[in-house]
Amino acid sequence: MVETDLDALIALAAFEPLARAVMDPAAFDYVAGGAWDEVSLGENEAAWPRRRLWPRVLVDVGSVDPSTTLLGRPVAMPVAIAPMAAHGLAHPDAELATARAAAAAGVPFTLSTMSTRSIEEVADAIPSGTAWFQLYTQADPTRTRSLVERAAAAGYAAIVLTVDLPRLGYRQRDRRSGFDLRGPHGNFADDGTVPPTHAAGLHAPGFARLEEQLLTRLTWADLAVIRSWSTLPLVLKGIMTAEDAVLAVDHGVDGVVVSNHGARQLDRTSAPIDALEAVVDAVAGRAEVWVDGGVRRGLDVAIALALGARGVLIGRPIFWALAAGGQAGVERALAILREEFEIALALLGARTPADLTRGHVS
Ligand code: FNR
Ligand code: LAC
Repeated sequence: MVETDLDALIALAAFEPLARAVMDPAAFDYVAGGAWDEVSLGENEAAWPRRRLWPRVLVDVGSVDPSTTLLGRPVAMPVAIAPMAAHGLAHPDAELATARAAAAAGVPFTLSTMSTRSIEEVADAIPSGTAWFQLYTQADPTRTRSLVERAAAAGYAAIVLTVDLPRLGYRQRDRRSGFDLRGPHGNFADDGTVPPTHAAGLHAPGFARLEEQLLTRLTWADLAVIRSWSTLPLVLKGIMTAEDAVLAVDHGVDGVVVSNHGARQLDRTSAPIDALEAVVDAVAGRAEVWVDGGVRRGLDVAIALALGARGVLIGRPIFWALAAGGQAGVERALAILREEFEIALALLGARTPADLTRGHVS
């Protein structure tokens, strides 16, 4: 692998071609791809630059401070790393590298249930960083409970329950390539999983096992039980409508993520940024609202916050940065995002994230 001068990379978009050059093509497509015709995949990104910013001037922006809190914990900027399966597809250090980079940058890291490395290994790697655990409920409730209890015992600061994957979306790239999400799955060491391989047929053990293990019958009625397994805040990831946002806060959740799963599940949904305002209005301050899908610029972070989000999650660019440069690559990606966001704040006449208002964006 050619040594990359990470400092020469000046936009998150620069990491994807580097990742493509080093990753197995089918694994690259698994990460890059969306469901069905990938209509929403393109729109997730395209919706952000359609927004227009309205700067305020003659504000003293000599000391802009992008830090804030997420779920009551200080963060260096209103950004967290989205849960993504199998970081081992990008780099041998897998989630350990991504989590260390997040901790170094002062942002939360979300560990997927389907991670390469385990809940405990990642917690050990970032003793002073903030980690959240993304939960896929398992058909066997004792397994779900065990995941929650392990996350709580290991010091994770929240449970992020993903609610938009009762089944996998119709992913044409994976069906064509035969890519399968084989292990190692760090959290299921007892499954006897094998190292990643991309030669297997579509319904070979990886995806099939994921689907078999998922609780497709998960409903609102199950949230109370999941909550009872720990004292951790509960965030629902994958809320797209005001109706579900109201149900979520009525069920006492601490946060919702407006998300279409990076367009990997139901295609032809609206871009999450276009669903955000209705959710913010419905939640009416009763929980934190985050958004993900297509965040690629610090300007996008500013837009999300001006529309009422507390923070954003960032997915694929982090995976590409991990493939391109390991921990240092992810640190560089987060530094770019932070610098862009700081400059955006200053040019909008906002000293802090809290100074961003709906008047700043249309
Ligand atoms: C994901 N996403 C995801 N979400 C989740 O809740 N659990 C998971 O295990 C995964 N796995 C996963 C793998 C890969 C390769 C990708 C690209 C995405 C969805 C992720 O958390 C997030 O919602 C989107 O990736 C955000 O969109 P962007 O930033 O990738 O455009
Ligand atoms: C994905 C699953 C694992 O989007 O969340 O690939």
